[in-house]
Amino acid sequence: MQKLFLTEKEIRGLLEKFGSPLYVYDEQILRKCCREMRSILDVPNAHVSYSVKANTNLRVLQIAHEEQLYADTMSPGEVFMALKAGYKPHEILYVCNNVSGEEMKYCADQDILISIDSVSQMETLARTCPGARASVRVNTEFGDGHHEKVVTAGKKTKFGVELRFMDEIRRIADEAGIRIVGLNQHIGSSVKDPGNYEAAANVLIDEAMHFPDLEMLDFGGGFAVPYRDEDQELDLDAMRAMFRRIWDRVSAEHPNGKNISLHTEPGRYISAACGQLLGTVEAVKENFGKTYIGTDIGFNVLARPMLYDAYHEIVFPGHEDGEKKAVTVAGNICESGDVLAKDRLLPIPEVGDPIAILTAGAYGYMMSSTYNCRLRPAEVLIRQDGSAELIRRRETFEDLLATFNLD
Ligand code: LLP
Repeated sequence: MQKLFLTEKEIRGLLEKFGSPLYVYDEQILRKCCREMRSILDVPNAHVSYSVKANTNLRVLQIAHEEQLYADTMSPGEVFMALKAGYKPHEILYVCNNVSGEEMKYCADQDILISIDSVSQMETLARTCPGARASVRVNTEFGDGHHEKVVTAGKKTKFGVELRFMDEIRRIADEAGIRIVGLNQHIGSSVKDPGNYEAAANVLIDEAMHFPDLEMLDFGGGFAVPYRDEDQELDLDAMRAMFRRIWDRVSAEHPNGKNISLHTEPGRYISAACGQLLGTVEAVKENFGKTYIGTDIGFNVLARPMLYDAYHEIVFPGHEDGEKKAVTVAGNICESGDVLAKDRLLPIPEVGDPIAILTAGAYGYMMSSTYNCRLRPAEVLIRQDGSAELIRRRETFEDLLATFNLD
C-alpha cells in the first residue's frame, strides 16, 4: 500500500509556498531505494548505476552519488549533468543509440565508456574515436516492459546488436584499435520477472566468453516498482540470489572472471517511489453522466498516463475516508486525452482541495514540457530532518522567452 509521505496540512503549506503543481521528493525514501539496490548486488566488484534520465534533478543525482551509485546516461546532456553532480568519468556509462560521431567524441575525450549498439555505430566510433574503449549493447532477444513502447530488447526493437553481428563488430573494433572492454544490455522497463532477466543475463555471459579481456558486464534493468496498491514489491531476496548466481558463473567460467565488474541499471526503482506530484482541484463537473475532477496537473506536468496509459495512485488528502464514486481525473491542457485516470473509484474533493499523484519521482518532471505555454513546476526535497528545500524553482513567463532573440 503506497502512502502519502506528507500530511494534508503540510501539502497545503507547500503548495502555498512553492506554487501548484509541485513535485516533492522524500530524501529518506530516495536513499532507502539506493541502498536496497546496492544490497541486491551483494557480490565483489559490483556497481549499481542510476539511470539519470529517470530524474535528472542535480540534488537527486548528488544524493544517488553519495549513496555510491554510478550513472548510466543516454545523451551528452545527461553526461554533462552527471559530471556536474560529481560523478567521475569512470562511474559513467554512455548508453547511446543512433548518435553522431561528435557525441561519441564528447564522451571519449572525457574518458567515458561508450556503449555501441550497431555495426553502423561501431563504424562511426572507429572513424571518430580510433583507440577508444567501448562496450557493446547486445540484444539477447529477451524483451520485457510495462508497455510495448518501453520494451528495449527482443525482436521488435531498435536497440542492441544481434549476436550474429558480434564478429563484425569485433573486426571493425580491432582494425581501429578500439578495445571492447564491456558488454551491456537492457531488456526493458519495469522488469518484474527475475527469471526473464536471468535468462537474458546468461546469454550475455555466454557471449562474454568470446571476449577474454572483458572488464565489465552490465546486465541492465530496469526493475519494477509498485504503481498500484495491489502490485507486488520487488522480491529483493530473489534478486540478490540471482545476482549471486550470475557472479558465481562469471567468476568461475570467464577467463578474466575474478576481475570483471558487474553492473545493473535498476532505472526508476531508484527515484520513482520518493516522488509525489501535488496539485490543486480546480473544477468538479458532470458531463453526460460522467463526473470529471479537473486539476492543474496536465500531461505537460505528468506525461506517463497519456503516453503509456500508465497508472498512478491518486489521493485527495483529507478525503481518504470519503464515499467513493467512479470519476475521471483530468488536467488543464486543451486536448481530450489529457486524463490522469479514467473511471477510477475515488472520493469527491472540492474545488481548492489538493490532489497527490503517487510514485511520480521517475519520468515525471523529466518528461514535462511547456505545452500550451504552461510553466513547469518547482521541485522540492523533503530533507531527512523534515525541512523542505527548493531544488528547482518554478518556471516564469520570462523562461518562455529565454530562447528567443528579442533584439
Ligand atoms: N538503462 C537503459 C539502457 C534503458 O534504456 C532504460 C530505460 C533504463 C536503464 C531504465 O529503466 P526503467 O527505469 O525504464 O525501468 N519513460 C518511460 C520509461 C522509458 C525507459 C526506456 N529505457 C516511462 O515513464 O515508463
